[in-house]
Amino acid sequence: MRTVSRPIALACLLATMGCPEPDGELVNDEPTFAEQITESALMDHLTSLQAIADANDGNRMFLSGGYLDSVDYIVQQLEDAGLEPVVETFDMEEYTLNTAEVQVNGEPPAGLEDINFSVFELSGQGTVTAPLSAVSVTIPPSGGANSTDSGCESADFDGFPAGNIALIQRGTCTFVQKVDNAVAAGASAVVIFNEGQQGRRDVVEGQLDGGIASIPVIGVSYGTGRAMVEAANLQLTIAIDATISVTTDRNIIVDLPGGDPARTVLVGAHLDGVEAGPGINDNGSGSAFLLELAIQMQDQGIDPTNHVRLAWWGAEEEGLIGSSRYFYDDNGEPNDANLSTLDAYLNFDMLASGNGVRMVYDGDGSDFDDGVDSDGSALIEEMFEAYFDEQGLATRPEALLISSDSYWPALLGIPTGGLFSGAFQPKTDSEEDDFGGDEGTAHDPCYHQACDTIGNTNPVLYEELAQAGASVIVDLAMREEAFPSGNTRRSTRDLPKPRGCHDHTVWDR
Ligand code: TRP
Ligand code: ZN
Repeated sequence: MRTVSRPIALACLLATMGCPEPDGELVNDEPTFAEQITESALMDHLTSLQAIADANDGNRMFLSGGYLDSVDYIVQQLEDAGLEPVVETFDMEEYTLNTAEVQVNGEPPAGLEDINFSVFELSGQGTVTAPLSAVSVTIPPSGGANSTDSGCESADFDGFPAGNIALIQRGTCTFVQKVDNAVAAGASAVVIFNEGQQGRRDVVEGQLDGGIASIPVIGVSYGTGRAMVEAANLQLTIAIDATISVTTDRNIIVDLPGGDPARTVLVGAHLDGVEAGPGINDNGSGSAFLLELAIQMQDQGIDPTNHVRLAWWGAEEEGLIGSSRYFYDDNGEPNDANLSTLDAYLNFDMLASGNGVRMVYDGDGSDFDDGVDSDGSALIEEMFEAYFDEQGLATRPEALLISSDSYWPALLGIPTGGLFSGAFQPKTDSEEDDFGGDEGTAHDPCYHQACDTIGNTNPVLYEELAQAGASVIVDLAMREEAFPSGNTRRSTRDLPKPRGCHDHTVWDR
């Protein structure tokens, strides 16, 4: 920036944009670094991602042609900017359910002639014929949702005959916890029935995280579950045939030149989309922002004090998979090689929501008490707030423990922050006051839909959030002072539920 050699008003000193001279001209007319991130460059990248989706069945989902072309696009652009991106591969289990059958052996009791069921995603496979044993069920439930806790404690399985099929009621703890306890008690399969309250009576559906279960797991309705509990000497045959194949997916990592590698600022965005649409806001917007940031930092020859690494994550939509492979090693333990030098992680997942708002991740835990707040995360939040304040732009907080790639570093105690313009949640009255747009309409009316096209984006909001991101990232990169610390690590066995929903509600109960 040019220096101003004569006295100016105090208010002017505080302004980023320069001050008017008496004749009305700007003294500080050089744009800030953040202003190098322009709407037109961002939208050009989105246009390219849209074209990629259009050429690939309309989507960019994991392992698809649209994803691979997206990877090529980012890599090519980074190389054109003189950078050396690395495509890091990781293994992913792909699960395909082929056939599933459930039958009562012998004469079926009333209500069990024709059993409607679901197969839990990541159910184990095989054919099991065995008697059922109910596991501390409550019929009817005596309270509201999650008032029952069948199978949540290993003690619920005291006296469970090994080899039997565990009949478990939905409620309180995760499906995974119930299944883990059943496996430990020697169950040969699990039938989970819905809890029984209004809205919790249909065939229950769910997914099991932490890999494929070792035994078949199916869901049935409350009515079916009750009939099974009431039937004497019931024997079932459950036959599940699935194919599990290991495939390879990709993250892209690029190290920007310079900076102390012992003090690394990692910036991430997921590059994959869902099957339903082109994923231009979710998350072409974050991906294109990272790309333009890299290009501009190169162009401007930014020579940082701290090292900056950028990551485009794969398979976020499948359960935060690509990023989990960076933060954890092959044994599922925290990856110290990557974590020990990591001072901060910033996440950009959805920046251009059509009816969006400016959300800043709540690093100090003042708005969402998730137990992952820290001094380091608070600093990042504060830096975003200071930037938006200076710009005269309103913000609102968003939980740190959301269902996005920042979930892992937040759990691992790394100082974490980020921006978000909103997904399926409807805009509130007070948000309409603060941000404009339409109250009652989703922040992104095309979230995870075919209409998440370039026409779905809000370029003005996008540029605002991208420039805020660029400003804070460069400030962190230039920071001389030590970074404030993060939090203590949380165990991954005790995963708190991230806020917001995900395509795969791994944490459902
Ligand atoms: N990670 C979500 C996705 O890619 C988007 C998202 C980010 C989200 N933060 C959220 C959704 C908070 C709901 C709530 O689909
Ligand atoms: Zn998404």
